[in-house]
Amino acid sequence: MSVVKHRILDEIALIEVSNPPVNAISAAVRIGLLETIEELSLDEKILAIVITAPERTFLAGADIKEFGKKIDAPILGNICDKIESLNKIVVASLHGTPLGGGLEVAMSAHYRIAAPNTKVGLPEVLLGILPGAGGTQRLPRLCGVSMALDMMLTGKHVPAKKALEAGIIDVIAKNNSTIDNGIEYAKKLIKDGFKPRPTSQMEDKISDKQEISNSLIKIKETASKKYKNLFSPHAIIKSVEEGLKLNFPEAISNERKLFEECIQSPQRQGLIHSFFAERANTKVPELKDGKPIELKKIGIIGGGTMGTGISMAAMNAGLDVIMIEQNDEAIEKAKTKINATYDRNVKLNRINNEQKLEIMSMFSATTDFNELKDRDLIIEAVFENMDIKKEVFSKLNRICRKNCILATNTSYLNVNEIATVVDDPIRVIGLHFFSPANIMKLLEIVVAEKTSTDTVATAFDLAKKMRKVPVRSGVCDGFIGNRILSKYLVSTYHMVEDGASPFHVDKVIRDFGCAMGIFQVIDLAGGDIGWATRKRKAPFRHKDDRYVEIPDRVCEKGWFGQKTSKGYYLYGENIDFLTPNPEIEVICEQERKRAGITPKKFDDKEILDKYIAAMVYEGTKILSEQIALKPSDIDVVFTNGYGFPRWRGGPMKYADMIGLDKILKNILKYSEEDPRFWSPPKLLEDLVKQNKNFDSLN
Ligand code: CAA
Repeated sequence: MSVVKHRILDEIALIEVSNPPVNAISAAVRIGLLETIEELSLDEKILAIVITAPERTFLAGADIKEFGKKIDAPILGNICDKIESLNKIVVASLHGTPLGGGLEVAMSAHYRIAAPNTKVGLPEVLLGILPGAGGTQRLPRLCGVSMALDMMLTGKHVPAKKALEAGIIDVIAKNNSTIDNGIEYAKKLIKDGFKPRPTSQMEDKISDKQEISNSLIKIKETASKKYKNLFSPHAIIKSVEEGLKLNFPEAISNERKLFEECIQSPQRQGLIHSFFAERANTKVPELKDGKPIELKKIGIIGGGTMGTGISMAAMNAGLDVIMIEQNDEAIEKAKTKINATYDRNVKLNRINNEQKLEIMSMFSATTDFNELKDRDLIIEAVFENMDIKKEVFSKLNRICRKNCILATNTSYLNVNEIATVVDDPIRVIGLHFFSPANIMKLLEIVVAEKTSTDTVATAFDLAKKMRKVPVRSGVCDGFIGNRILSKYLVSTYHMVEDGASPFHVDKVIRDFGCAMGIFQVIDLAGGDIGWATRKRKAPFRHKDDRYVEIPDRVCEKGWFGQKTSKGYYLYGENIDFLTPNPEIEVICEQERKRAGITPKKFDDKEILDKYIAAMVYEGTKILSEQIALKPSDIDVVFTNGYGFPRWRGGPMKYADMIGLDKILKNILKYSEEDPRFWSPPKLLEDLVKQNKNFDSLN
């Protein structure tokens, strides 16, 4: 069946595009659209053409799957130019999310009516590209350069009301019936004598050259810092700025040239990988049969940093929360923290006071576990200690309803073992939030041996309600994220003991695009956390494992990072951001001497290679053990929870892009020095032998 159909209704032709689920503009849509437009253009009886896509949404943009592939079909830019040049009125009747190429089609129409539910945007920047079908030229003509650039640089979706005020659309319809809206509007335009109105000829909003030049200076200044590592934001600004100095067809070919450059950029590959990876993460086997239970009432055990953060995430999702703490003082502390967070949100105009009070009314706290008996789900966030966790779960087992889901927020401990104290372990699951839990997107859903499919489905449902990015993980020490983190942390300690400066390591990691350096992260999380883990694992350490004592020496001094104002860096009111603690280098020197190591110099490449190799090494092991079901899940964990640059796609995608043979070669080289730590993973060897990449496992 054709993806583009049309009907003639007297003097109006109605085009309907149907390419579920989101009416992406695939090659078939482009071919269909062009043929239809060409056919209709010859019919003199037709006075107006209405373009609609009546299902879930108006065209949500180009078909992203086609980028980078050679496809023989007309390009969208030419179709938009053709639409605009028609000598009949063209109306785009919008609803849902006309984004990217979808909005570009709409902007090449002569008039736009939008259903009240419409949100428009040019989010190409989030995919590492620019609006390449005239968007960088037509949007400024409709709403001015500043707003157009703001939309194109952030990718934000603009609701119908704001789009109307800005001039992007002409009218908001009374309802969401996109076909009727379009036809009615076209009839009115014909009746009132309106003529075709090409956007390319609208000059009003781009006539004040001085004002545009001033705002471009400001925008470029901000962009040079904010989008330092990125390619496409600068290409977008360039296309707008240069376009304004050219005639329209020249500006369009300039935009096309810049679009092609973006398409060739590895950042486009990384970002588009992230787009699909963040949709593939919810495709897990348990969701095929699992049915979520209805979630309304939640219990949170523990009012520390995690407990308060998770409570707020739940309250923001409209869930009623009871928090359990040990005494009134702890309750007061938790309440004050939650209250202060919402006060800040009011101050920043994110919510109003009424909304704050409404959210706070969903929160209560008590020391009495019996209050949990009507809850649908409990999330335990107490101290990371197996005995304490088991004690809590035994209580929950006694008190909670039999179908209440019991979750632990442990970041390392064995969820199977925790589940042993519950009569019916099918309802036990790990929900590993990241701090601050009310803000961080990632949620690792840890499926234990006996967890039921319904419990897993409920956890994914909770993630959706909380607007988290869930990733399924199996049970192992540290799950996906922290297990990989442990590997590269230890590998980094090796490098530092061998002679690398922690501050050099951090700089390399930041320059690579990570949000923070490794030692910065330790300071943020608190050095004592890792110290406790190292002590816990000490009895299981093999005598031949290389163990670097530098971080222990730092902790022994009570330098736990930000919370003690001193860690690898110094913190305080008058201290510059990222000021190294000078005593760290002294400790490193002493420890190198003690270990009998002659320090060697590391260059940036050596540091980065080892960092990536360690991540990919452990990522490969995690895949072989089916802790992560696919490489893209590991990528999602790192781009959403560990500050790995999204535009590099995640560690596994990055490995694919640089070549698995190169990574394996490095691992083999490192294994000559330390075969216990670096013995090459079989899966990686197999992939290289078969000339395959991680993507082949997605
Ligand atoms: N191309 C191909 N597939 C797409 C797509 C696109 N543009 N947009 C969404 N999809 C797919 C998703 O991968 C998903 O597939 P699966 O069900 O197989 O996982 C499905 O459509 C539904 O998508 P969501 O789960 O994201 O659905 P949602 O309702 O939560 O969100 C949406 C809908 C707001 C449209 C969101 O999908 C979205 O933001 N899509 C991307 C929009 C975009 O970036 N458009 C610009 C494209 S680039 C361009 O147009 C360049 C140009 O200048 C010509």
